[in-house]
Amino acid sequence: MTPLPIVRSVPVLRVAIAAWRREGLTVGLVPTMGALHAGHLSLVTLIKSRCDRCVASLFVNPKQFAAHEDLGRYPRDEAGDAALLAAAGCDLLFAPPTEVMYPDSFSTSISVGGVSAPLEGEKRPQFFGGVATVVAKLLLQSLPDAAAFGKKDFQQLLVIRKLVADLDMPVEILAGETVRETDGLAMSSRNAYLSAQERAVAGRLNVIMREAVAAIEAGGAIAPALARAEADIRTAGFTGIDYVALHDEAAFEPIGTDALTSPARLLAAVQLGATRLIDNFPVTPDARA
Ligand code: PAF
Repeated sequence: MTPLPIVRSVPVLRVAIAAWRREGLTVGLVPTMGALHAGHLSLVTLIKSRCDRCVASLFVNPKQFAAHEDLGRYPRDEAGDAALLAAAGCDLLFAPPTEVMYPDSFSTSISVGGVSAPLEGEKRPQFFGGVATVVAKLLLQSLPDAAAFGKKDFQQLLVIRKLVADLDMPVEILAGETVRETDGLAMSSRNAYLSAQERAVAGRLNVIMREAVAAIEAGGAIAPALARAEADIRTAGFTGIDYVALHDEAAFEPIGTDALTSPARLLAAVQLGATRLIDNFPVTPDARA
């Protein structure tokens, strides 16, 4: 297989994309922090179903990590990632060093209001500002027709959609379905941190969440279903719960009543030893009995 071309500067990235544009080709972007798995590769497939060429970016963005988080030990394997991307049909890898993305003179940050505030915004206050800033840069550096993000990071997807809408960025945001292991665990680069014992526990999260979804869709009251899920998560062996919450998909407001009238998302963030896991599932009002 031909090795994937890798570019590390914005001018060289733009020259490559401009050459495609002159041929009349459309271009899509898959932003990543590397340590790729089948979820990322499905986003390449999604982009290639809509665009002639796919650029993936690989940048472990320091601005979205708090000082106590795992920036230093975040898994890195550029050569392995490039091989996976090439096999998936990606055409170009943009892997800038930190000084290209954030030179010493860098002093801009982007804050997306509203949808950034709850859940991840409360637990990781630096996170969405860092994500919005780097995604805005990546979109402006590559000016793609479309960019793809996974529903696994559902609140992030909403933040990016709001960023693009508020700043009138001419890019279509595509959402890729969550890709799961055989026991249903959502694929994540951070799953590599799990010990064998933790990995067995991790597979319970999606099962417990699906049970809560089924209970709510069957007409069960929301608060008891969420409380039951929290209790089951603790019993399964998870070491902490940041949240188990039901939000409506449109405004991303918490659903505080038992009247589920519009599409909603059940979202959870839990701790398992040193590893934080998140997941989410749709909850459909029509499915209620
Ligand atoms: O989802 C991720 O991997 C990251 O948050 C992203 C969107 C690549 C920004 O660094």
